[in-house]
Amino acid sequence: MCGIIGILGKVQVAPRLVDALKRLEYRGYDSSGIATINEGHLSRRRAEGKLRCLEEVLEHSPISGTTGIGHTRWATHGAPTVLNAHPHIAGKVAVVHNGIIENYLELRAKIARQGAEIASDTDSEVVAHLVNAELGQGKAPENAVADVLPRLKGAFSLVFAFEGCDDMLIGARKGSPLAVGHGDGEMFLGSDAIALSPFTDRVTYLEEGDWVVLSHSGVAIRDADNQIVARPEARSSVSATLMDKGNYRHFMAKEIHEQPEVLGHTLSRYLDYGSKKTHVPGAEKIDFASLNRLQIAACGTAYYAAVVAKYWFEKYARLPVEIDIASEFRYREAPIGERDCALFISQSGETADTLASLRYCKQNGAVIAAVVNVPESTIAREADVIFPTIAGPEIGVASTKAFTCQLAVLASLAIQAGRARGTLSEEDAKGLVEQLAAIPNHAVKALRLEADIQKLAHSLSRASNVLYLGRGTNFPLALEGALKLKELSYIHAEGYAAGELKHGPIALIDENMPVIVIAPHDASFEKTLSNMQEVAARDGRIILVTDQAGADASDGVAENTIILAEMPSLIAPIIYALPVQMIAYHTAVFMGTDVDQPRNLAKSVTVE
Ligand code: G6P
Repeated sequence: MCGIIGILGKVQVAPRLVDALKRLEYRGYDSSGIATINEGHLSRRRAEGKLRCLEEVLEHSPISGTTGIGHTRWATHGAPTVLNAHPHIAGKVAVVHNGIIENYLELRAKIARQGAEIASDTDSEVVAHLVNAELGQGKAPENAVADVLPRLKGAFSLVFAFEGCDDMLIGARKGSPLAVGHGDGEMFLGSDAIALSPFTDRVTYLEEGDWVVLSHSGVAIRDADNQIVARPEARSSVSATLMDKGNYRHFMAKEIHEQPEVLGHTLSRYLDYGSKKTHVPGAEKIDFASLNRLQIAACGTAYYAAVVAKYWFEKYARLPVEIDIASEFRYREAPIGERDCALFISQSGETADTLASLRYCKQNGAVIAAVVNVPESTIAREADVIFPTIAGPEIGVASTKAFTCQLAVLASLAIQAGRARGTLSEEDAKGLVEQLAAIPNHAVKALRLEADIQKLAHSLSRASNVLYLGRGTNFPLALEGALKLKELSYIHAEGYAAGELKHGPIALIDENMPVIVIAPHDASFEKTLSNMQEVAARDGRIILVTDQAGADASDGVAENTIILAEMPSLIAPIIYALPVQMIAYHTAVFMGTDVDQPRNLAKSVTVE
């Protein structure tokens, strides 16, 4: 993972590197570092922990220069210590790296035999040593890099700076993204347009295998065969303003509360309120009527959006749907072909496993669709058609508003597919569109439950284990609830389909085990009520998230009940997501964990 930046500038570079790294912290935040070249001299500062630790180091021990490179890390090889933080320096070269050098052990052994002094446990440091060894043979920096790149296996983006070269940075990409920024007499390299946004909106995305030599006067891009190539320059629409928390204590709280608004924005892109029809721009690129199958792959919370979507596409469009965790799908050699549509769901549009799954399906001829929140991301650029979520930047590592917006898009698309396949009448489709249109209002009402949830979270924060149960489209919400709770509060939690309770998890039930049941009073409520009785009979503490009818019907079974307004079952998983998010958020706040940047996690997972 990790975020990287390189600047060939005209003014002092250290603060600019740190500014860019702040925008890249979503890629990792366990340690960071920068290196600058000042009149040919290479200097470096590194720190363990969040970026503010690097800022403190720089306050006490500043470095100068107008050219430099920077890195914010999510540790893969080697603990998050200062020694393992990037940039890595060997002799005359400094390097920052995002990705994994898979053959690093073999390379490391070789350079160690040749006498290199290896200072870190990382895979990245070997790259600096290899390039430095080539420089030692008298090669120019670009020739040294060109000779080393083919020896690296795995996925990487790299940026190099060289002692003695104030007017040169070299970047390379294979498997991990890297973009060139064109400034006014300045040049930039960064993991994405977000990092480059304070400096320029003129961006060139490097392609697989490309490597690039930057100087103040311009850029020379070469492909994997070392041939000079032209890559288009695009205008990035990424805002340069750093997001702030407004009056909220955490980005996550702000993002939870933004949901009525961003759901409204997203729905208005896909619904025509006047005619009560879905209007999904780009859907015409998918021949739903003759589609064989919809294959969906995603990771994390986006995968749970896929699980909900499966219910919708199967019910409303009678379309067979396969869903997969992208890290499994990419190696599964699943049969997929031209009459299939492959749909990828990703907030960031950069998740490595989701991207690899996309490329597999593309090679096999499927139509590639993507639901993404970052329209300039790699997944968005490689898809045949994108269905954007209009959630705005999501900063909190745990996905909230992007998830509910993904669901809003997927529900609209399922209705559109149902119409195209003739499985939904115009009348029924209109009814469903009306239901979707009510989402923002229901979201507002759901947020009013926050004070009740806060009280509940206080008692949950004392639990060691929590079980979440749900049925139908609320089963994926049980999975999402458990994921949110564990990633934010570090309390162990598991999500189960309520019907599976008796096949294992019931053995865990005792008076210490809170069981959160997500169960609106729908067609399957009675079944879930039986499951609650089974829990209650074993002294389990039930927290029921339901509506008034559900609360009445379950009288006395639950220890706590969170009561939402009654709503159609189509929109329940979208609205019930809000209390589920608030439960995890407030529990984490009580526990005093780092809500926006939980330990060991990153917002965008760009390594497999
Ligand atoms: C990470 C994030 C999750 C996110 C998942 C998938 O694990 O912490 O919040 O759901 O990646 O990310 P994507 O950007 O592909 O939706």
